[in-house]
Order: sequence, then structure tokens, then C-alpha cells
Amino acid sequence: MASATPPPTSSSLWRSRVPCSAERQGLFSRIAPVYDKLNDVLSLGQHLIWKRMSVSWAGAKRRDRVLDLCCGSGDLAFLLSQKVGPDGQVCALDFSKDQLLIATARQDLYWKACYKNIKWIEGDALDLPFADSCFDAMTVGYGLRNLLDKQRAMKEIFRVLKPGSRVSILDFNKSTSSLITQSQEWMIDNVVVPVASNYRLSKEYRYLKASIAEYLTGKELEKLAKEVGFSDAKHYEIAGGLMGNLVATR
Ligand SMILES: C[S@@+](CC[C@H](N)C(=O)[O-])C[C@H]1O[C@@H](n2cnc3c(N)ncnc32)[C@H](O)[C@@H]1O
Repeated sequence: MASATPPPTSSSLWRSRVPCSAERQGLFSRIAPVYDKLNDVLSLGQHLIWKRMSVSWAGAKRRDRVLDLCCGSGDLAFLLSQKVGPDGQVCALDFSKDQLLIATARQDLYWKACYKNIKWIEGDALDLPFADSCFDAMTVGYGLRNLLDKQRAMKEIFRVLKPGSRVSILDFNKSTSSLITQSQEWMIDNVVVPVASNYRLSKEYRYLKASIAEYLTGKELEKLAKEVGFSDAKHYEIAGGLMGNLVATR
């Protein structure tokens, strides 16, 4: 099952086979130019706090080799690189070339030595171009919810992690509380979509509500992780239950 494709050797974009899911790919490419700005505005800057928490839960240490899956413009990859330091390595994978171009532009702007260790990889989260058991820690920020086959994605995550290492998966929380679900839906309808419509992206952001409804609850995420082989899985609700983070140990 291992994919023997070697990791990239420079900070430039490195391509692996990019598959279908064309609609979702198009959606993330269209929102790429304003994605970071909208995250800051819509979360009032809070998304960076949640991302810091998520990266801490992944347990990355200095000199580790780590993966940020569905990296987008790279927020979690940059945080991971601070954890592993200049002697570590961060692979950051996404299937949207437009998101990766923004990530590489940010990398060129930043001065920290550790950021040079991030390799941006254009590829599919459902068919990872990495060997078995090659990462010491992993993060997935707002990515799993968007994947068509979540079980296959979790199997791939399990496959590429070393035994004993962790994946930390941050996303919107599909709550079992109707109050939290109604609050999320109210915010999407009355804040997120109207703000996104200023950038002609209302259709793209309206998709959020359906994607949360189709996502898994914390308990279901824990169950899925155990089904694919993780020895331990715990889901934490954060931001008053609006967001959630699964931590699974291989
Ligand atoms: C909501 S963004 C999150 C970006 C970033 N992790 C963050 O937290 O800001 C979701 C990302 O998942 C990527 N994505 C969705 N499906 C994917 C797939 N099958 N393979 C790789 N990337 C995928 C999208 O291109 C997009 O950049």
C-alpha cells in the first residue's frame, strides 16, 4: 500500500497526481485570494488561537518530520515549523494550486529560518504520496469535513503516521446540542454569507452549512478513528462548542 514517491527537495511547489473532486477544488481555488482575510474577519482573529491549540495537541517536537494535510494557505504548517525548528521538516499538502501559491508567497515573505523547511505539495489527501509510517505528527485544519471519503482519509492518515504518534484534526464541531447547531447556522446565514457576498463568494460560503451537517459528531469521529486502527481517540469541543478537535494516537 505504500506510495514510494519521494518527498520534495526544495521549497518550490512539487506536484503529485491530482485527482477529481473538481468542484471542491474549484471552490477552494476561487476563495484562495480572500481566504485568510475572511478567516480573520469572520472569527475575529480567533482561528489562530484554535490553530495554535490544535498544533500543540499534535505533539510535534524539535527535529520531527511532520505533515499538515489540506494545508490551504499554510497557517498550521507555519505553526508546525516553529515546533520542529530548522532541523525538522514540514510537508504541507493540498490539492488547490491557488492555495499553495499563496502559501509559498507567504513563505517568501517570512524571515524565520524554520519556515524554509516547509515543502508545499500539490496532491490528494485520499491518496497520499508518502511511504508508510513516515511522520512523527500530523495536523488537519478544516480539511477532513471537506473530503468526500472520510474513512479513506483516516486510513491514509493512519498509514503515514509512525506508531505512537498523533494526528490533530481541527474543524467546525457538528454538535449534538440544537442550541449550538442553531447558533452556527444563524452565524453562517447572517454573518458569514453576507460578508462573503461582498467578495461575490456567497455560494462558496453557503456550502459551509451543508458541509457541517454532513460532517461527523465528536463521538462519530472518535469511533471512525478507532475503526481504522488508532489506539486512542478523543474529541475536544472548543470555542463554546462551535469548533472541535479530534486527537488520535496511532
Ligand atoms: C477550509 S481549507 C483549510 C485550509 C487550512 N488548513 C486552514 O486551516 O486554514 C480546506 C483545504 O482543504 C483542501 N482540500 C480539500 N479536499 C482536498 C483533497 N482531497 N486533497 C487535498 N486537499 C484538499 C482545499 O483545497 C483547502 O485548501
